[in-house]
Amino acid sequence: MVNKYVFGSPFETEAVVTAYDAAKLPECFEYGEISADSGFCYQYQMDAKDVIYGLGEANRGINKRGYLYVSDCTDDPNHTEEKTSLYGAHNFVIVSGKKHFGLFFDYPGKMTFDVGYTRQDMLTVSCEQENLYLYVISGDSAYDVVKQFRKMIGTSYVAPKYAFGFGQSRWGYKTKDDIATVVKNYRDNHIPIDMVYLDIDYMQDFKDFTINPERFPDFPEFVQEMKDKKIHLIPIIDAGVKIETGYDIYEEGVKNGYFCKREDGSDFVAAVWPGWTHFPDVLNPDAREWFGGKYEILTQMGIDGFWNDMNEPCIFYSEEGVREVNAEIADYVETFEDQNTTEHLRNNGSILPWAVREKLDKLQNNPKDYTRFYHNVNGQKVRHDLVHNLFGFNMTRAAGEALKKIAPDRKMLLFSRSSYIGMHRYGGIWTGDNHSWWSHILLNLKMMPSLNMCGFLYTGADLGGFGSNTTRDLLLRWLSLGIFTPLMRNHTAIGTREQECYQFEHMEDFRHVVGVRYRLIPYLYSEYLKAAKRDEMYFRPLGFDYPEDTRAIETEDQLLLGNEAMIAPVYTQNASGRVVYLPEEMKFIKFMPDGSIFEEILGRGTHYIDVALNEIPLFIRKNCCIPVVDAAENVEAIDMKTMKYIGFEGAVYELLEE
Ligand code: GLC
Repeated sequence: MVNKYVFGSPFETEAVVTAYDAAKLPECFEYGEISADSGFCYQYQMDAKDVIYGLGEANRGINKRGYLYVSDCTDDPNHTEEKTSLYGAHNFVIVSGKKHFGLFFDYPGKMTFDVGYTRQDMLTVSCEQENLYLYVISGDSAYDVVKQFRKMIGTSYVAPKYAFGFGQSRWGYKTKDDIATVVKNYRDNHIPIDMVYLDIDYMQDFKDFTINPERFPDFPEFVQEMKDKKIHLIPIIDAGVKIETGYDIYEEGVKNGYFCKREDGSDFVAAVWPGWTHFPDVLNPDAREWFGGKYEILTQMGIDGFWNDMNEPCIFYSEEGVREVNAEIADYVETFEDQNTTEHLRNNGSILPWAVREKLDKLQNNPKDYTRFYHNVNGQKVRHDLVHNLFGFNMTRAAGEALKKIAPDRKMLLFSRSSYIGMHRYGGIWTGDNHSWWSHILLNLKMMPSLNMCGFLYTGADLGGFGSNTTRDLLLRWLSLGIFTPLMRNHTAIGTREQECYQFEHMEDFRHVVGVRYRLIPYLYSEYLKAAKRDEMYFRPLGFDYPEDTRAIETEDQLLLGNEAMIAPVYTQNASGRVVYLPEEMKFIKFMPDGSIFEEILGRGTHYIDVALNEIPLFIRKNCCIPVVDAAENVEAIDMKTMKYIGFEGAVYELLEE
């Protein structure tokens, strides 16, 4: 049962696709208290046992209780535990305890979710403007609430099957030879692979929809050459369009008024990778169509997948910001020279170099910059900060809508860094710039079901870690989780240690681990299709299926995958296994490096399982089975004739294919 309540004059985000009549808030509203006089504030006193699920791409646990989360799409590459905002804004929470209900706050500006942070028993959701839609979804269970919510927001994007293959990426593959070398190394070493990603290095001076002709000559031929080797090249597209006379996309955008504007009507200028850029006004339907149409430049060259980046939108600095900081620093320096004493500044709260550094640090993603530009939404001027969380969504929508027109019969790969609920209909997401830290394997695992709750099914993290240097064991363990995530991509930052699978000793271990992914693709893709078509979750917390089992509810390092399986990857350094909790009898299987599958029935309860770096553990639920095929070097080469079922005797599996 869904109830929709309206406060003030909400912005139409188009997150929800089902039409509901707005209800009047009842006198005794059993789902909390609301005040919407100056700003909006929702409060609910949580029962000691209530679990709070949701919030999609957010920090910390699957149960969000005990911390503060702020929906405010942010490019912050340090996902440490204290961070409250990441790249996405997913304003959906579920209260699950004696009652089960979901709350979707359809509000595109900054919104705070205080989930027992200020007061341990209080859930407080607030924002500055009292203009929003609140949807309250009541159900029989947390999963029931999710299914109703997913129906409301529309069917999730379905990625092509090839996108379930493994992908290799690195910021810093500078030439076509670099790419060809990566492919050769994977193919020569028989480590399966389907995709190689092109980071900003492929562009001419970081200009969207251009190719550097010296470093990537004869690009369409190269794309074909790769296709012949069963490799899809997946280029990045950034939000900012470089300001450069003669660059057609810049000139068209200026001429047609398709860029975000300052209050005085001039085009807003922000610095990102290419230097000074303008942002396409993707909230303006005409501009969106225009920007989306540009993807055809690359699809005509044979490209069939994209990743959209920097679309929070990230701003390194703005012209205004630099001017302001310059003035402030000049003031400091003057004071410093006047007083000629550090003592004076210290007494006034800061020391000069520190104060200057702080000012400079604040240039990036400065909230003030987001108040300096506007969107043209059907003739109405809307200040960016009020709709900030919709930018990545609409950039990806631009691409998604255009790709549907460009190739109506073909599925294209599309995923984004920034997102809002609603974007799940157009593409997937990756979880941004993580680090080669063991704790980020677990963070990756915990985010997956929360994202599924919000409709994002094609998801994954940078395996091996984006920032910092990876290690062989970390990469193997992370891949052992990644083989289950729909997006399975090894990606790393420029300047970090090389982390392609063939860079490490005993490469056969990587061949085996990635190979297991391919053995499971028929099952994984089938469960993914079911989740998308039936508004279900591909990954679920254990508590969703075992709601009476407190131990299951509190288990946050295992996940149910599809309807038949449970994963429990090892995520700690130097561990030779891990403790696992089984809420019911299951079949424990391990994909062994010699290609065999170890099987053992384990009873309900706690077990310690041995898992070597080159073994993949998986649990099959009671009376279930899953299909397994022989490993293949790419998705097309999977031989369905080799399919056999593994699990409980007599069990039947429903295989869904494209
Ligand atoms: C951003 C992206 C990262 C990419 C880099 C360079 O940091 O999140 O994935 O490699 O930009 O384009």
